Amino acid sequence: MQRESWQRTHTCGELRAEHAGQRVTLNGWVHRRRDHGGLIFIDLRDRYGITQVRFNPDVSGHALEEARELKSEYVISVTGTVEKRPEGMVNPNLATGEIELAAEELVVLSPARTTPFPIDDRIEASEELRLKYRYLDLRRPEMQKNLLLRNRLYQAVRSYFAANDFVEIETPFLMRSTPEGARDFLVPSRIHRGKFYALPQSPQTYKQILMVAGFDRYYQIVRCFRDEDLRADRQPEFTQIDVEMSFVTREDVMSMVEGLMAHIFRDILGEELQTPLRRLTYDEAMRRYGSDKPETRFGLELVEVSDVVRDSGFKVFRSTVDAGGIVTGLCLPGGARYSRKQIDELTQFVLQQNGKGLVSLKVGENGLEGGVAKFLSDAEKTGLVKSFNASAGDLLLLVADEPERARTVAGALRLHLGQREGLIDTSRHELVWIVDFPLLEWDEDEERYVARHHPFTSPMDEDLSLLDTAPEKVRAKAYDLVMDGNEIAGGSIRIHRRELQKKMFSLLRIGDQEAENKFGFLLEAFEYGAPPHGGIAFGFDRLAMLLAGRSTIRDVIAFPKTNRAVSLMDGAPSDVDPKQLEELGIAVIPEDKD
Ligand code: AMO
Ligand code: AMP
Repeated sequence: MQRESWQRTHTCGELRAEHAGQRVTLNGWVHRRRDHGGLIFIDLRDRYGITQVRFNPDVSGHALEEARELKSEYVISVTGTVEKRPEGMVNPNLATGEIELAAEELVVLSPARTTPFPIDDRIEASEELRLKYRYLDLRRPEMQKNLLLRNRLYQAVRSYFAANDFVEIETPFLMRSTPEGARDFLVPSRIHRGKFYALPQSPQTYKQILMVAGFDRYYQIVRCFRDEDLRADRQPEFTQIDVEMSFVTREDVMSMVEGLMAHIFRDILGEELQTPLRRLTYDEAMRRYGSDKPETRFGLELVEVSDVVRDSGFKVFRSTVDAGGIVTGLCLPGGARYSRKQIDELTQFVLQQNGKGLVSLKVGENGLEGGVAKFLSDAEKTGLVKSFNASAGDLLLLVADEPERARTVAGALRLHLGQREGLIDTSRHELVWIVDFPLLEWDEDEERYVARHHPFTSPMDEDLSLLDTAPEKVRAKAYDLVMDGNEIAGGSIRIHRRELQKKMFSLLRIGDQEAENKFGFLLEAFEYGAPPHGGIAFGFDRLAMLLAGRSTIRDVIAFPKTNRAVSLMDGAPSDVDPKQLEELGIAVIPEDKD
């Protein structure tokens, strides 16, 4: 193919000392222009790197004059000769730092308006501005790096599954609404007026049906849609690595996932991951960390002290334990230096987390001090110090509440202090499985049990007999993978026998008719020979975020939405033409303005 004279021969990240003397053409964006009187330097940028281009009177001629007109982000073509930089001018921070291009010809391919923020990693524009001008934000080397990492992650995932005989199968985006946990995004049907498709919250039902169809190892890198409240680690549309396998136990799925993670760690981070990964039961995670996605890269573990204070003279402790609650908390080494104001801030934090209060006790040379200490007996005081293995100078922080809330609140406080005190070792990643989740949880509003994972998750065999007597004690064959305190994957072994599924539905108070309506097609499929099966789904964006060392998934998604589910670049969601609504048979009820 004929190369046009302006077309590049090399990228801006490619030239080295060995290219010295060659005549080359580079294309790219003007990153920076430095005017040194007679001399002009341009840093030319593309996604491969930056190359310094020099315009000088000797060789550049007319191009030098033209270069004076260049502004940031102009797209240009420069032709010239590669020169080794003189000794002392070499830039070791730049891959191309040994050379520069002595420009002879310059073509402006496209001028650019002044950008609303500089294309520079060192300058943090507001996220609003970054999202509105996402194409400019994505030019920043940092963001390019993030998306390139994401690209490598797709490839690592695909190569692992291909090597393990998995079949990639696409499932529909327009499906039947079968709410899974979050709200569905609905798509009105024009052909079937008044009827709606739903966008999948996950391909859960399809992948189980694919097992019935005989594709015993399925995976898909797939977009999922959930209309839920957003946070730094949640988007209304996000990507999963979705996996399902037949004829497997929990151990098989978990070891396949460990193989995947080891492959990813090797490929993306160049690190060896020690497998098998550590496991914590849900119960243990809640007791020790107050979270089902514990950050395990620091200590400050929770210790329950209900037994020590059950007859306490401090009424809050005694009455909470009497009522079936617990007292739990942590010991902050050296925390006795915390001022009154700092402790008040911690109390405020606890209240924001829906806690009822915070008891703080300083450990002095002669035991516990602090407001509440005067209500505690000597036995209680020594008991507390001993439980926490505390020393003089430490600070004990205690909460009393019903067990789940006490643990969650203390767990949130633990994480808060870990971050505040810089205790978390962020130089490494840590993966841990959480297993043996409760199968059900009680929904106060609906006054019924709901599935913790989803209604197809299988109970543990040894707990089956509890289904009738103590449903809340039944554990599930479910597992979550937690990385650095983030839930990056979750899955389970499914129910594949009709009778058990029926029983689950009745526990969840899903009537026959409702079950038929919502999941009839799946239940019917199970009657035609369903293999035992199970699977898992990764939050791809979260995994990419952690591997890239970022703190929001928006940084590894090319075009994310804001926390209010808005796309600032194209203005979605937007009004639509009334004609479109009419065709769909839809009328919008105006929002109450009160
Ligand atoms: P689950 O609902 O746990 O399981 O989702 C799997 C993983 O997807 C990620 N994730 C999200 N990431 C970004 N934004 C969101 N709004 C969001 N919601 C979830 C999380 C989570 O661990 N069908 C089951 C899986 C299975 O049983 O096989 C499912 O979807 O990292
Ligand atoms: P009060 O008696 O409500 O003034 O509380 C006395 C102290 O106990 C305050 O420091 C409160 O923050 C704390 N406190 C109250 N309720 C609880 C609780 N459930 N758990 C831990 N601390 C509490």
